[in-house]
Amino acid sequence: MAGELAIRLQQLTKTYQTRRGKVEALRGLDLEVRVGEIFGYIGVNGAGKSTSIKILLGLSQATSGQAEIFGEPAGTLAARSKVGYLPEVATYHEFMTVEELLRIHARLAGVPDKQVEERCRISLESVKLDHRRRSRISELSKGLKQRFGVAQALVGDPPLLILDELTSGLDPFAQRDLRDILVALRARNITVFFSSHYMSEVEAVCDRAAIIHNGKLQVCGTIPELTENREKVELVLQASPQALAELPSLEPVSDEVGELHRVSLGREDADAFVARCLTLGCSIRRLNTVQHSLEDVFYQITRAQGAKKS
Ligand SMILES: Nc1ncnc2c1ncn2[C@@H]1O[C@H](COP(=O)(O)OP(=O)(O)OP(=O)(O)O)[C@@H](O)[C@H]1O
Ligand SMILES: [Mg+2]
Repeated sequence: MAGELAIRLQQLTKTYQTRRGKVEALRGLDLEVRVGEIFGYIGVNGAGKSTSIKILLGLSQATSGQAEIFGEPAGTLAARSKVGYLPEVATYHEFMTVEELLRIHARLAGVPDKQVEERCRISLESVKLDHRRRSRISELSKGLKQRFGVAQALVGDPPLLILDELTSGLDPFAQRDLRDILVALRARNITVFFSSHYMSEVEAVCDRAAIIHNGKLQVCGTIPELTENREKVELVLQASPQALAELPSLEPVSDEVGELHRVSLGREDADAFVARCLTLGCSIRRLNTVQHSLEDVFYQITRAQGAKKS
């Protein structure tokens, strides 16, 4: 249904009690993931990604706030039956073959006996692992093991996949293979929510993304929304004495002859600033738009917020 939410977090908090004292992992986290999107979940180590994911799966209890999957409270059978999960650190029974282990996951996911073989076949085909169905897990490369991880998350035919650090430690080819798999899953209207430390990957594949820091949402939106709003306009001009007196943001350009000055502006301020400079008798020498990548935005946000608090 259009506008329906696959994931909703509202003012989620989580405080761990440890021997070192309390650790506030989540501090009022809000998040909405829409049905049918590929959503990237970004944050530095310790930002709170896995904690919020575990709460969504009912593996950990929130201290306060709400977490829902397709409108069902996290941790209930109704919510759990709608989600397939790949944990951050997945360990498998290495001596089993791909198909043996996948059958077990299918049964654990509640697939009726008669459908187990069919569901396993579809899942393995979806992740392009059908040719290795008789290999032992121990024989698979890390990239293929992660594909198996997606297959076991898919085998119960859930409408939502939550994949915690799907591509960590994989080579660029294996990362790209997984990205292609996610895109094919979206075409089947499966919502994909994954955490990642690779900004280029999130930029390449996600419909929307969120950056969290210190257990709080910092920004959320499409990649253009996250990056273009932070575009800067850099202006280099020959300033009149009047402009120098009235525009304190002008900085001398040290490596240029001819007494040039520079200023960096938010895109929304640029037109008015240029008009004012012209009125004050300046001569514009250069005007560049500085595009920001998601990585730039990530650094800006996390630096502005300071180091993580725990
Ligand atoms: N079981 C736990 N007991 C105590 N503290 C915990 C526990 N799990 C996580 N934390 C703390 O909660 C904070 C958030 O951790 P979390 O694992 O959710 O972050 P993350 O964003 O997934 O990080 P990473 O990118 O390293 O996986 C960190 O300060 C972490 O040390
Ligand atoms: Mg984590």
